[in-house]
Amino acid sequence: MTISVVILAAGMGSRMNSDLPKVLHKLGGAPLVAHAMHAAQALDPERMVVVTGHGAEAVAKAARAQNSDVLLAHQAEQMGTAHAVAQAREALKGVTGDVVVLYGDTPFVRSETIEAMLEARKDHAVVVLGFEAADPGRYGRLVMEGEALSRIVEFKDASEAERAITLCNSGVICADASALFELIDVVGNDNASGEYYLTDIVGLARDQGQSVGVVRCDEAETLGINTREELAGAEAAFQARMRAEAYEDGVTLIAPETIHFALGTTIGRDSMIGPNVVFGPGVTIESGVTVRAFCHLEGCHISRGAEVGPFARLRPGAELAEDVHIGNFVEIKNAMLDQGAKVNHLSYIGDADIGERTNIGAGTITCNYDGVFKHRTTIGARAFIGSDTMLVAPVRIGNDAMTGSGSVITEDVPDGALALERSEQTTKPGLALRLMQRLRALKAKQQKET
Ligand code: UD1
Ligand code: CA
Repeated sequence: MTISVVILAAGMGSRMNSDLPKVLHKLGGAPLVAHAMHAAQALDPERMVVVTGHGAEAVAKAARAQNSDVLLAHQAEQMGTAHAVAQAREALKGVTGDVVVLYGDTPFVRSETIEAMLEARKDHAVVVLGFEAADPGRYGRLVMEGEALSRIVEFKDASEAERAITLCNSGVICADASALFELIDVVGNDNASGEYYLTDIVGLARDQGQSVGVVRCDEAETLGINTREELAGAEAAFQARMRAEAYEDGVTLIAPETIHFALGTTIGRDSMIGPNVVFGPGVTIESGVTVRAFCHLEGCHISRGAEVGPFARLRPGAELAEDVHIGNFVEIKNAMLDQGAKVNHLSYIGDADIGERTNIGAGTITCNYDGVFKHRTTIGARAFIGSDTMLVAPVRIGNDAMTGSGSVITEDVPDGALALERSEQTTKPGLALRLMQRLRALKAKQQKET
């Protein structure tokens, strides 16, 4: 069955006390809205619509960065959750199958949970995701009739008896696309908030003789973020979840509490991550990789058996093939390193292609930027780049070529050639000793005079 997803992200989130729309605050290095999108993507949806409102342009940009196929709908005025979903009608025109509604500020709903809801749709016209709340607070309450859901009542509109209910609405809801919009069409706003409540579709479906089901999940999964304090708590929960996932995937974490994961961090079996490693977005690591202490990785891919760090920085577009070694104080950006290549100490490799088993000596720099344009450095296989080589791009170094230490390489070096660029050395016997003696005598004389 095809499914589509609508993510509501129009609210301002005034309790964040921020100029930034709530869904752009970051969790695991990614904006909140990206988390709901990430869970939705796992379901391979036909269409995904993000409903924007406050800070629409910025929210749209973040949504596109997460998934360039995302569709956007705009809700100019926040008139309630049903009104928000109604804005997605155009974007969902012609779709068949189910629509799942998620919130941009609720990052932990798992794709497995949404799948369970889709499964429950076989028996019900509408399926709601509910949870037993430790403290039901202001959540909407699920009014049950046996195993069937009879209606959802918002806290503001609930009676004392209804407020005593602890089974609450997460906000995630699922129904057939055309049925959903037909139900939304009849939702009114005659309630305590004067808003169009999406939750009203439950009672309306029941009035039409349709059945409504509830899928239950853990409260932690439906955690919504409204304040900075909740965001900090969510970050801790996110990190704990990522650690648990890593253990399950067969990854060893040394000093796990000090490792910082990001949304989408993927690590293969028998890899080892050392203390104080920070993952930014978009890192994938294959199996048997070692990342030593204090590395910072973002937007990069590390293949099987590679070793990185300590103190290495891999920036977006760093692509390490199998068994590559990256050592301490090395920065790699937008560069491909082929199998077995080594950059072991104090180097910057940017906008470059490095061939297999090539060795880059300590202190080597690809001079990739002329102040306006970026240029590429290409190095062949089995090359040996001497320590402190400046590779002034654009430049090509051939297979099996060498550069002498301290060379500033501005011209291409053919296969098998040695390029040496430095002035000849002169050596003066005994001069160092004589010079030192003279300087010490001078200092002694000055001290006597004062
Ligand atoms: C909603 C539910 C409530 C549920 C709770 C769970 C309704 C009427 N109530 O209440 O039953 O227990 O979520 O957290 O649905 N949004 C828009 N446009 C709008 C209104 C909201 O995009 O016009 C977005 C918000 O940005 C937010 C989400 O929808 O991401 C939920 O809105 P919010 O105002 O927080 O709803 P609650 O009152 O918390
Ligand atoms: Ca809320």
